[in-house]
Amino acid sequence: MPSNLFSRAADSERANSERGNERGIFKNEDALHPEFIPDSLPCREEELKALAACLEPLADGSAGESVFLHGPPGTGKTASARFVARSLQEYSQKTVQAYVNCWHDSTRQAVLSATARAFGEALPRRGLASDEFFSRIIQNARNTKRAPLVVLDEFDRLAHAGQDSVLYDFARAGETSGVAFTLILISNDALALRRLDERALSSLRPHSMEFERYSPLELKKILGERAATAFFEGACPKSVIALCIAFAAKKNGDARVALRALYDAGKRAERRGAQEISENDARQAFGGQEERTASQEKRLVGLTDVEKEIIAVLRKSKAPLSSGDLYEKLAAGVSGKDGVGLSERSLRDYLNLLVTKRLLVVEDVAGESGRGKTRLFRLA
Ligand SMILES: Nc1ncnc2c1ncn2[C@@H]1O[C@H](COP(=O)(O)OP(=O)(O)OP(=O)(O)O)[C@@H](O)[C@H]1O
Ligand SMILES: [Mg+2]
Repeated sequence: MPSNLFSRAADSERANSERGNERGIFKNEDALHPEFIPDSLPCREEELKALAACLEPLADGSAGESVFLHGPPGTGKTASARFVARSLQEYSQKTVQAYVNCWHDSTRQAVLSATARAFGEALPRRGLASDEFFSRIIQNARNTKRAPLVVLDEFDRLAHAGQDSVLYDFARAGETSGVAFTLILISNDALALRRLDERALSSLRPHSMEFERYSPLELKKILGERAATAFFEGACPKSVIALCIAFAAKKNGDARVALRALYDAGKRAERRGAQEISENDARQAFGGQEERTASQEKRLVGLTDVEKEIIAVLRKSKAPLSSGDLYEKLAAGVSGKDGVGLSERSLRDYLNLLVTKRLLVVEDVAGESGRGKTRLFRLA
């Protein structure tokens, strides 16, 4: 069959059935996508219950208790928050919701704009000032008499970017405008609240919930359910799931890593035209992931061009670089593009930001004269 540039999984499924085969590998490929929220989240029943209890008043149109979810990557924080928010929305019309990923929307204006849009506000093409976004949000909740819930995922990014005053906006809205917000704040960093604007914190007093790493046994349950939704019966042998669990267990029990490995293995089997994923498919899928974990990949999404350029320069360099070295290379457009025009001062700000995003590591080494220190940056 001549292959077409645009041929996809659906074609290979069709090809399978044309060959007389009953099925391909994936019954529902979406079920393994990172954004997919399954119908159940095994091993997080307690957390979901506690989260639902905090949000319960929203179902009657009143403010709930704000919550702070923290824990290592891939422990189901985002999935749990979205799961409960979705259930609430299905159950009650008396609430209005916004989910904001602060890696992407990391300024006060971006957070407010995303919230206004999620609340259903039609926004004009010309940019609005942050305060205008905020008054649209307040008006919306007030006019529709719906209690607002805002999920701020990876919210620690706001404090790092000096943009956490938006939390103060939400926290104080009850007093200033009579519209009380309930927030779900999510971070990997258990101490993220400490860096918050004091005034915002004292108004919010969020209830703190820790998400612990998954054990191999828990991963087995999670993967088993997701695989049953995603694959045709018999397409994914238990031994493949066991391999993916062992792989994820080595990566700190990150469920995202396990699901990604399972998905990649499925795709490899599909490309072979097979009806069953082999252990070899799984091992090859791990090979593709060794270099960069799914969590690191997540961090790379939504970076600015300057941030990407800094990473490209460091990736090319064998040795760690000082901000001075980086500045020269960026100015010269070392990575093949035109030089990035930015001041040394703002380059240092970018570097600090990339360190807080855990994409870069910084080490202080003694200066050449033995006095003073030079900060050297390398990829994490
Ligand atoms: N208990 C679970 N049941 C089913 N799928 C799960 C469960 N926990 C996590 N997952 C899946 O694992 C992946 C990672 O989960 P999630 O994005 O919620 O992690 P996270 O704790 O937010 O991680 P990070 O801190 O890196 O953002 C998602 O695809 C999610 O659907
Ligand atoms: Mg998350």
